[in-house]
Amino acid sequence: ATNRTFTMIKPDAVEKGYIGGILNMINEGGFKIVAMKYTQLSKRDAEAFYAIHKERPFFGELVEFMTRGPIVAAILEKENAVADFRTLIGATNPAEAAEGTIRKKYASSIGENAVHGSDSDENAAIEGAFHFAGREIF
Ligand code: CMP
Repeated sequence: ATNRTFTMIKPDAVEKGYIGGILNMINEGGFKIVAMKYTQLSKRDAEAFYAIHKERPFFGELVEFMTRGPIVAAILEKENAVADFRTLIGATNPAEAAEGTIRKKYASSIGENAVHGSDSDENAAIEGAFHFAGREIF
């Protein structure tokens, strides 16, 4: 069925000028952009968005990284969106990411890995609603 996932182009990729290249790969991958904004997470936003990781040793580093500059947040629509988008972005660690994936091309490390992709339909809905009001989704 056609469904939705949520993505962010993270501060490392924005800083390096990769927004256009990543959006192009998203388009070429057959995803329709149904919501999109250029924004910056506050510390509170990042701590809430990544609450599930708060006991992890990298949590402080993750919040620091995700708030250090602007991001692009978007909701994407496609048949089988969550799984297909995770295939398109590749493994969390770019050293393990397959050829032809966004992280293989644009990520620098396991932490600074260029893009986010929701890991389930349920989280896609929660994460999309975190960033977008209903009237911003088309
Ligand atoms: P993502 O999967 O989008 O969401 C959780 C993020 O935590 C992940 O991307 C990385 O940015 C970060 N992360 C995961 N594992 C590590 C790690 N070992 N060290 C630092 N950051 C990590």
